[in-house]
Amino acid sequence: MVNIYKFRKFFITLLFSVLMANISLSQTTEDHMNWWHEARFGMFIHWGVYSIPAHGEWIMYQENIPFQEYKKLADQFNPQNYNPAEWVSLAKEAGMKYMVITTRHHDGYCLFDSKVSDFTSVKTGAGRDLIAEFVQACRDADMPIGFYYSLVDWHFPGVLPHGTREEDEVYSDMVEQAHAQVRELLTNYGKIDILWYDMLQPTDPKLWRSTELNEMARQLQPDIIINDRAGVEADFGTPENRVTAQDRPWEACYSMNRSWGYARYDRNYKSVHELLRLLGSCASQGGNFLLNVAPDADGRIDIESVERLRSIGRWMKTNGNAIYGAGPSPVVAPNLGMETRVGDIVYLLLQRWPGSTVPIAWCGSKVTSAILLANGQQARIEQKGNRVWLHDLPAYPVDPYLNVIELHFDGPPSPSSPAYK
Ligand code: GLC
Repeated sequence: MVNIYKFRKFFITLLFSVLMANISLSQTTEDHMNWWHEARFGMFIHWGVYSIPAHGEWIMYQENIPFQEYKKLADQFNPQNYNPAEWVSLAKEAGMKYMVITTRHHDGYCLFDSKVSDFTSVKTGAGRDLIAEFVQACRDADMPIGFYYSLVDWHFPGVLPHGTREEDEVYSDMVEQAHAQVRELLTNYGKIDILWYDMLQPTDPKLWRSTELNEMARQLQPDIIINDRAGVEADFGTPENRVTAQDRPWEACYSMNRSWGYARYDRNYKSVHELLRLLGSCASQGGNFLLNVAPDADGRIDIESVERLRSIGRWMKTNGNAIYGAGPSPVVAPNLGMETRVGDIVYLLLQRWPGSTVPIAWCGSKVTSAILLANGQQARIEQKGNRVWLHDLPAYPVDPYLNVIELHFDGPPSPSSPAYK
């Protein structure tokens, strides 16, 4: 009798723990992107042996450099000024909340230790695992870590030029290597937050066994967030150098100038205003903004990027509440800029300052207060039905880039009719 009772108790406890484990598992999968949505702004880093010739990350392809010649770059690649802690603190200063680094690009050069390749920073010039150092720096600063991984590997014989080979053993070796290296990356460096694939070339997810690859990734890192560039259903979309909202989580990635990898003579930098406009545009449509830096071969980030990131950081200190965790707003100030919503607060991110009165139209809720974040000034509110005017603001803009007005309402903000976008 006693034994049966004991068993019953045991089974009930077992059932309860299995149920609880399932609940927490489903919560993990449902919630695993919360921090990423909250973050809204991340740093992308393109770095590799292509930083030596300094003509961008596609140079091997662009100049059709044979691998035997290209590989000599790896012996020269020995960055003396690589200090990832400085990169992390620059990202923090800019208000960025995660970082994604190229663990290897299309040329196949790995910044990490790999058992299945000799073309790595450990086995050539640098003699160190540069990714391990990066991971350590992020972890020391509580910075979420993303690994960019190029699926295609141009150093495999026959892979270049694109598309001339039929599916054959060349590709199967490359695919095997990718599976092995994704396993290494997600096994050897502790918790990794994002897996950022690139360049499914040939573009056939079956050939790459992409579903299996993602299953393995999630098995190794249950909370990992995976992008869509392995060609199968994943966690987020990746519009490149354009802001295109999607009906699922998305992140627009942008280069600081016209190149992803270090390009010494590329002077075509985006302005701070343009970068903030892009960040605001992503947040106002519920997406993330991943902004690239391209360190030189010695590990230094160019002053042009550093200055821009610092200016963005100063703006974020004052206005960051309009970005983090933000999504689209139902209330708008038409034609003056962008709007975001965080909870019941709406932020107007004004690009064009209208003078001392800011008009809002088709507003269905009562505005209770309006603050210009750049100087903390309260506006005088006039509201007639769905028309609102924010008066007594400075005649000229206080912030040189985007002036943000924080609006509070007597309840959840709503439009009087859908805004014309
Ligand atoms: C493209 C390019 C690549 C860059 C990437 C960033 O796929 O081939 O050089 O790394 O976009 O999104």
